[in-house]
Amino acid sequence: MLVQSAEHKAALQAAAFHQPMVTQAPVTFAFAANALAGNADLTPIFEQAQAAGAWNEGKVNYFRNAIPASQTQLGPLRREHAVKDAMIAATHLALAAESLGFATCFMNGWIEDQAKAVIGASDNPDLAIACLMPVGYAAEPRKDPGRLPLSFNVFVDRLGNRYGE
Ligand SMILES: Cc1cc2nc3c(=O)[nH]c(=O)nc-3n(C[C@H](O)[C@H](O)[C@H](O)COP(=O)(O)O)c2cc1C
Repeated sequence: MLVQSAEHKAALQAAAFHQPMVTQAPVTFAFAANALAGNADLTPIFEQAQAAGAWNEGKVNYFRNAIPASQTQLGPLRREHAVKDAMIAATHLALAAESLGFATCFMNGWIEDQAKAVIGASDNPDLAIACLMPVGYAAEPRKDPGRLPLSFNVFVDRLGNRYGE
């Protein structure tokens, strides 16, 4: 969701250990992951995919059963999976925004209860905030710190087999 009113951004900044970028940016995205999303009514998604000709009836019927079933099977991992999904969305937002010339910052630092209160999710124990991401214009150019060689943290087949060595 987008947090963009001055009031909400100020409250979110306080929840995020007063990190300044939350209010400096015109908008801060809060990626909220709902661990129970698989239980939601998926009909609008199915209808859209069918209208687009992407999914036929067989596929829709399969998903209608398979999605809730697989979610149930996940058990305690549901929250983790929801957070992964939300991080995929956040990453794509960052790539799209940066490609348009905006600056972004992945943020992991906030007090969960306080941040949830700001976005109106205090009463939802199944909702996790996966990340915050202010989007705006960079105040100053930043020097690229560079990248270590791939052999530093990329391995082939087995941990310890360093890429390129
Ligand atoms: C998951 C994640 C969480 C982060 N959380 C914060 C944060 O709360 N505050 C912050 O200033 N930087 C945070 N960072 C670091 C910045 O997002 C950013 O990666 C760092 O400033 C380097 O950016 P640059 O490579 O564009 O210079 C986080 C990075 C990641 C990957």
